[in-house]
Amino acid sequence: MLRKLFGGGRKPALVKGTHKLQDGFAKKVDVGDVLAGTGRQVVFCRIEGKLYALDSQCPHEGGRIADGPLLDGKHVTCPLHHYKFDPTTGKAVDVACPNAKAYKVREADGDAEIWL
Ligand code: FES
Repeated sequence: MLRKLFGGGRKPALVKGTHKLQDGFAKKVDVGDVLAGTGRQVVFCRIEGKLYALDSQCPHEGGRIADGPLLDGKHVTCPLHHYKFDPTTGKAVDVACPNAKAYKVREADGDAEIWL
């Protein structure tokens, strides 16, 4: 069951220091080697104490989801056309758009494991 919930047996990547991310904020982190194509840029978000992770690539037209303060404390935005996404699910908010890619993430002892 846990395997299914957290990546189906693939090994997670470790991201250190996620405890520093304040509630209501998002921060971009390169996980793995993004330039070599073996990693992804991830937007970590903290909402009501819980950590969430979205791919930074906007599903609309390839913009990049922004980090910084969350809109209304709960949504990330893409600055290209100002679409909003729910970090807890990746769903686009109030627009017809595919979901942003949401990653499974588990935080413990101030660091996070993420399944890309
Ligand atoms: S490319 Fe992100 S909202 Fe259009």
